[in-house]
Amino acid sequence: MDKFVIQGGRALRGSVRVAGSKNAVLPVLAASLLTDEPLIVPNAPDVSDVRSMLKVLESLGSQVTRRADGALVVCSAGAPGAEATWEHVRRMRGSVTVLGPLLARTHRACVSLPGGCVIGVRPIDLHLKGMRALGAEVSLDGGDVRAHAVRGLVGNELYLGGPQGPTVLGTANVMMAATLAKGRTVLHGAACEPEVVDLGECLIKMGAKIRGLGSPRLEIEGVTRLHGAEHAVIPDRIEAGTFVIAGAITGGAVRVENCRPDHLMILLERMAEAELPYDYGDDWIATVPYDTREHRPRPTDVTTLPYPAFPTDLQAQWMALMTTARGMSLISETIFPDRYMHVAELMRMGANIRRQGASAIVMGPANLSGAQVMASDLRASAALVLAGLIARGVTEVHRVYHIDRGYEQIEKRLSALGASIVRVDEHASIDTSEPSEDASTLPVRELTPQTAATAQG
Ligand code: EPZ
Repeated sequence: MDKFVIQGGRALRGSVRVAGSKNAVLPVLAASLLTDEPLIVPNAPDVSDVRSMLKVLESLGSQVTRRADGALVVCSAGAPGAEATWEHVRRMRGSVTVLGPLLARTHRACVSLPGGCVIGVRPIDLHLKGMRALGAEVSLDGGDVRAHAVRGLVGNELYLGGPQGPTVLGTANVMMAATLAKGRTVLHGAACEPEVVDLGECLIKMGAKIRGLGSPRLEIEGVTRLHGAEHAVIPDRIEAGTFVIAGAITGGAVRVENCRPDHLMILLERMAEAELPYDYGDDWIATVPYDTREHRPRPTDVTTLPYPAFPTDLQAQWMALMTTARGMSLISETIFPDRYMHVAELMRMGANIRRQGASAIVMGPANLSGAQVMASDLRASAALVLAGLIARGVTEVHRVYHIDRGYEQIEKRLSALGASIVRVDEHASIDTSEPSEDASTLPVRELTPQTAATAQG
């Protein structure tokens, strides 16, 4: 198991290129099951969630190749198998999006329930409601969802939202199922996230008839067959946002390239409110350097809500940033009310945070100091890395496999921006002396909590 060892206190400088969106590519890969022709994705990120999805597809009989130019080619030429088993699905919730395509193409599917996770209870009742509305018979049996539609799916009109608002993967799942259903489907309360729009655009390239993308009302006219396509997914807005916050939190000059600022307007608006300087163009955002000893961000509240409001996937990173603000900021989480695993770890580093139900109050400014902290989920891990970048002394972030789920080689990309961050095997030794230019290849010596404390001092 790997951990990151971070020596805090360096302002980041340079440029970083954003990868293809993890959350866009997962349902796009599932869409390959809707056709017997190849689907080509030139810019799929090489992260472990994508590798897990490819394993699910291979277990269903798809052929997967990564071309020399990095493009992923997925082909489900024969009739795909109908069973996505627990062994594969448990690794990643996004794999539930094979349900809709399997039902649409083979009229039956058996997909293990993905179960809850550390960010809270994560039901799929809305996915199932959608499949039932399209005529599928659905039952739960031994932890598996079993669904069939003997004469195929039939279009329908339905409201898909739930108590917490629209569902992103649920919309993706039902939209994919409806592309091959007989007749017209009208989805009300659909998710408007850029990843859903991106999937819709991929499906349209494959021959689907979809109207209303980006709005809560989707109209899908079923077709008898879809064909192969090539589709580059949108840049990862959460990765882009994380690098922007990395620049801002260190007072550095980070130019985040190949991103879509129009997908991050709420982040930019909150940065302006926090008096954190930045600039942006069509496909880049750059943080403007400032002296972190003289200027502290203004405390700025965020409430997570569906797009285009503040994304839950940037909540933890924003919280890390607000630990440096001069006063009290309120963070409210309406999507996953329990998504606060990072709070206790940030407090270990000296942050002053009080959680009350689905909200957290961050009292700044805190002078964070390095500590041993535990990554619990993907975005919580990113927040701990950000905190480590500004903490006094050495921070060790354990269980970084969580961060590998969604960020491609984040330590190398942060090192290239001047951060002192190394990945080491938990059992290797760590050298705590000042890192050389290429910090990621340093020899290492084991760092106990005691030596870490010395290093902080
Ligand atoms: C997607 O999860 C993303 N995952 C999540 O990103 C993201 O946090 C989330 O959307 C919200 O933006 C992928 O795209 C792979 P939801 P999803 O269904 O679709 C409730 C990350 O860090 N709900 O939109 O599973 C649910 O409990 C990850 O990259 C139901 O009640 O989320 C939540 O409160 C984590 N019943 C709300 O809806 C359902 O059937 C929104 O969840 C489905 C969801």
